[in-house]
Amino acid sequence: MAKTWTPSSWQSFPAAQQPEWPDDALLQGALKQISSYPPLVFAGEARSLQTALGHVAAGNAFLLQAGDCAESFDDFSAVNIREKLRVILQMAVVLTYSLGVPVVKVGRMAGQFAKPRSSPFERVGDVDLPSFRGHIVNSEHPSAEARRPDPARLVQAYNQSASTLNLVRAFVKGGFADLNRVHAWTQEFVASSPEGQKYDQLASEIDRALRFMRACGVDTESNSQLHQVDFYTSHEALLLGYEEALTRQDSLTGAWYDCSAHMLWIGERTRQLDGAHIEFLRGVGNPLGCKIGPTTDADFVLELCQALNPSRIPGRITLIARMGANQVEDKLRPLLRAVRDADHPVVWACDPMHANTYTAVSGRKTRDFDQVCAEIGGFVRAHAAEGTWPGGIHVELTGDDVTECIGGADNILDSQLDDRYQTVCDPRLNGRQSLDLAFRTAGLISSSGLA
Ligand code: PEP
Ligand code: CO
Repeated sequence: MAKTWTPSSWQSFPAAQQPEWPDDALLQGALKQISSYPPLVFAGEARSLQTALGHVAAGNAFLLQAGDCAESFDDFSAVNIREKLRVILQMAVVLTYSLGVPVVKVGRMAGQFAKPRSSPFERVGDVDLPSFRGHIVNSEHPSAEARRPDPARLVQAYNQSASTLNLVRAFVKGGFADLNRVHAWTQEFVASSPEGQKYDQLASEIDRALRFMRACGVDTESNSQLHQVDFYTSHEALLLGYEEALTRQDSLTGAWYDCSAHMLWIGERTRQLDGAHIEFLRGVGNPLGCKIGPTTDADFVLELCQALNPSRIPGRITLIARMGANQVEDKLRPLLRAVRDADHPVVWACDPMHANTYTAVSGRKTRDFDQVCAEIGGFVRAHAAEGTWPGGIHVELTGDDVTECIGGADNILDSQLDDRYQTVCDPRLNGRQSLDLAFRTAGLISSSGLA
């Protein structure tokens, strides 16, 4: 670790997973441009999220972090943003109602573009092409030209993040997220399904509760909490040049914030204690996440907490476990114990997606809905055994009727993956599977006696 942190001190540390930009002058030009642009989020908002996550860490709230694996430059529209928001709001209502605690809503949205890759090259036919690294870097099309990193994409990613955030802010504060509209969040393809009907029932109960409150004389009209929600953004802080360009000093406190999103996380492939990602993120005031894979040991987790949160601020760190359905319970328990015994006030979240990815017989990368639920089950059991709070879930989803993950209520088969396989990166849960997952998660936590 550098003695003195600055927004650029990460540059003297090894940075994993950075693209090989072919033209440094073009890269520096793009970063300079972005550093002159307005921040996307404000320090005060990041602090509000950290306070909300502090309640999660204390066991009094639940975190729902969800959205695309990789946002796409091609699939960028109001409808796409609205549908994703709609399914996240639905899931949040299910979790709030069933668990009886506030749900902190954080999108993998408005900046979730950059992708770490397990190999820098991909074999296509008989040539090795540079891997696709997300639309902020290159294009997924399999040609040498398309795969060349292009710094103009950094600016486009900033602009798309700004428009996405603008629409999200309008939706969540401008009436779309009004609790009086819970019924209207169900999409047509979900409405007739068993999950859709279960949701409709819950929405009717909420309607009845609101009517009851009004009948008792409670002024539900002027209570903004019933008509608006707080919705935060997050992404993996992978491209450190881009993150540095959006790092600004808060005029109120003098602290530095990465204003590209409210929350930033460190991926499984970039969490080296002596690496550039940890060096960069330790210095910004935003709440941080770190993915924790099956090779993680307790010493690492304690060193990580010490490096990123030496003052032990509740909600500053979210540890996102992605262990795999069949090993999460055993691998997680010693980590839960160590962090609990060291009194680090972290949020524990479960990413049930990334360690359950496999290639189906059809050749498509997929995830099995049952395995996704099984990982959440193991995560909850580990917490129940250690007396800690299973604070949240971190999932890749879309509101659309895609066929990317197999199983779920309409039992998508391997042979159906080709029907509507639209992701540019990892397979996502569709609208029905996402809603079903919210019910199951609530059920797993309730039945374990934790809520
Ligand atoms: C991701 O969240 O998209 C991701 C790449 O996860 P991980 O770092 O856990 O593999
Ligand atoms: Co992913």
